[in-house]
Amino acid sequence: MTNLHGAGCVVTGVAGFVGSHLAERLVNIGCRVVGVDDFSSGREENIRSLKDSDRFALHNLSIRENGLIERLCDLHGNLQFCFHLAAIVSVPYSMSHPDETMDINFRATGALIRDAHRLGFKRFIFAGSAAEYGNDRRLPLREAYADGQTVHLSPYGRAKYLASTETAASPLGVALRFFNIYGPRQDPGSPYSGVISRFVDMALERKPLTIFGDGLQTRDFIYVSDVVEAYLAAAGLSMSNPIPPAGIYNVGTGQAVTIRQLADTIMNLAQYSEPVRFLPERPGDIRHSLADVHAFETAAGWRAQVPLSSGLRQTLLWAKKAEHE
Ligand code: UD1
Repeated sequence: MTNLHGAGCVVTGVAGFVGSHLAERLVNIGCRVVGVDDFSSGREENIRSLKDSDRFALHNLSIRENGLIERLCDLHGNLQFCFHLAAIVSVPYSMSHPDETMDINFRATGALIRDAHRLGFKRFIFAGSAAEYGNDRRLPLREAYADGQTVHLSPYGRAKYLASTETAASPLGVALRFFNIYGPRQDPGSPYSGVISRFVDMALERKPLTIFGDGLQTRDFIYVSDVVEAYLAAAGLSMSNPIPPAGIYNVGTGQAVTIRQLADTIMNLAQYSEPVRFLPERPGDIRHSLADVHAFETAAGWRAQVPLSSGLRQTLLWAKKAEHE
């Protein structure tokens, strides 16, 4: 077991949807968190509760900053874990800005991991993505399916794949390939926002939910607190779990849900029953996505705990509260 007292953690992308939840949890278990964000998609309000903690420091910096890790070590001393979440998060943006996406989502990651290694970090955990599998139809998706032959559907998917591969090649590197994450703080703001944040927003505004295509496409939705626990397990910061070897691991529930089922569940929970609106299929959408979760279960003793209905209930509660703020 790792002695948690004062373990020093860097969290890049700390003001983002997932980064802010991770940082809160790390602070709560007694870690010191040095957060980095350039606020390109992160939001001040996500880290409001952290700002008062004497175990939290924030740097408004880009991950492309030269010598970033060294500078943070000089300022804060004894940092052992790097959770690297900062990235260009929009797939459509990556299509129109492929070079910038490669630079930030791939090359900058390589530089960070090399510096973390040189400076004696214990673990470097990278936020990978199911987009690394392209449109692979062999379900459930196993880690080895993404390889040199994979055709990626976007620079986002390609850069995440290259960065995961580079992470896993380092003795301290663990890349977690997240499937569809949802939960409080996910921004419903654009047509390409996660479907759950959009459906919750529409249900609360009493607008018809919009389904692209026939709604029989499926996804593997994972709640943000399960994702946070996966990060802790990957770092060896979970109390009773084994420390997983360096490598690449899927993080999902292993359960497929259709978009129609999802719409029905959200409308039920929100006590709203307007018929859904069917719109044309979204160009470039994949039909099905499902994680094989055995590798991380075996290596780290981690398994998703939050049933979809509970996660959706929490997300709705948060969204209702946020509406009134
Ligand atoms: C993910 C990305 C998306 C990218 C796509 C292709 C996220 C949140 N989305 O999409 O930006 O283009 O990979 O690589 O990371 N849907 C509806 N109604 C809505 C919104 C979505 O029916 O209002 C459907 C979509 O068409 C899709 C499913 O819900 O079939 C899930 O959508 P989404 O949450 O965007 O996730 P991905 O499709 O996995």
